[in-house]
Amino acid sequence: MRFFSIKPISYLNGEVELPGDKSIAHRAIIISAISQGPSLIINFPANKDCLHTIKAFKKLGVRINLLKADNCHSTYTVKVFGKGLCGLKKPNSNIYVGDSGTTLRLILGVLAGQDFEVVLTAGSSLSQRPMLRVTLPLRLMGAQIKARSKVQKSDTLTPEEYPPIIIKGARLKPITYKIPVASAQVKSAILLAGLYAKGKTTVIEPIRTRDHTERMLKLFKADIKVKKNIIVIRGKKQLISPEVLYIPGDISSASFFIVSAIIVPNSQILIRNVGLNPSRLGIIRVLRRMGGKIELSGSNFQVPVYNSDAPSLEVGEPIGDILVKSSTLRGTIVKDREIPSLIDELPILMVAACYASGKTVFEGVGELRVKETDRIRSMLENLKKMGADIRLIRKREKESIVIRGVKRLKGASVKSFADHRTAMSLVVAGLNAEGKTRIDDISCISKSFPDFIRILKKIIS
Ligand code: S3P
Repeated sequence: MRFFSIKPISYLNGEVELPGDKSIAHRAIIISAISQGPSLIINFPANKDCLHTIKAFKKLGVRINLLKADNCHSTYTVKVFGKGLCGLKKPNSNIYVGDSGTTLRLILGVLAGQDFEVVLTAGSSLSQRPMLRVTLPLRLMGAQIKARSKVQKSDTLTPEEYPPIIIKGARLKPITYKIPVASAQVKSAILLAGLYAKGKTTVIEPIRTRDHTERMLKLFKADIKVKKNIIVIRGKKQLISPEVLYIPGDISSASFFIVSAIIVPNSQILIRNVGLNPSRLGIIRVLRRMGGKIELSGSNFQVPVYNSDAPSLEVGEPIGDILVKSSTLRGTIVKDREIPSLIDELPILMVAACYASGKTVFEGVGELRVKETDRIRSMLENLKKMGADIRLIRKREKESIVIRGVKRLKGASVKSFADHRTAMSLVVAGLNAEGKTRIDDISCISKSFPDFIRILKKIIS
């Protein structure tokens, strides 16, 4: 337990650079591990989830060295000695992935194509998160998978599946699969399995989600084609490492600073070298629509110097700086189709909506129920305690959140629900609230952004 108190601040000012993007970092380890040749990964975030991906691939026989710790930025330079598509080894015990959903769902895609069995176990929160969305398509490709299953009250025909999971890979067959829920993790698991299938695997997304897997696979010379929401990958082709990869700063981590600077008067901050992949920029589009003063500049990326005679860094992702100033916000409607591009930013956007004039609606947010915690519940309960006018609307299957702006939130005793994004959103809410805010436990923040409080302290007055 790590209690945390926040008092209102006067303003934010300064410049920050953030650890690498969590989603991209997982993929960098996974794809490097199954490619030919070594990969040097720079600006790798030292968070719990990404370290679980490293541990998992070490157990599968991949040599991975943490070369240099940059304590100033909480990042590592990591060297992965790729084993090629078929070089992984059966681990001598279970692989524990902690509470990292991305580690588990993506590694299942890789393990589906191996000729050995692996038992995957998870922490208490991930053990309650649904896995059928991944196990179902991987079984269709030929993998043998057993998982803990539980019959759902609402749908007795299809029991949901949860970790622990036992997976035995096979000679995979390619499939054409229409994903029922918009999920980059599900898409990525199928694409990674597709690397092992002979022929064309096709994934069709209902709404386009983050495309880091597709971009990185292209960088590693996979045979992959993307046309709108349809991705086609041809398997059985070795991946070739680009040698050096730079992970851009995490836009999801940046979102907490962006909203802080917007809601606290007289603030201005510059966030350098952030990943500006359009599939992740929902937060910027929505905040700008609400009147947020946010400028992006794509041209300022300075390749960090780490070794004078090193080959050039590969990125494969747009990068730029974000300048944010205090702004007066007005409400907006966030449509279902926008949700995947800001799924992890919904909690912090709810905080921003509390400071917007009029009504903000977040439509079709049901997926928040199956994140690290039920984020609909965690944000509704906490923001209500802080005096927000927030409610949930259910129409048939669809859940939406409606927030009416208030003059100012009030400090209160709130709970993180052991969820990193709920915790960081509450810290931000407290920065401009009237009186003191007390959060029960913020140790969960280390799941994605252990340095959050330290960086925040640098730019607040
Ligand atoms: C992620 C995809 C999203 C997101 C998660 C990271 C990824 O999950 O919420 O934090 O790296 O692919 P879903 O695929 O479940 O939407």
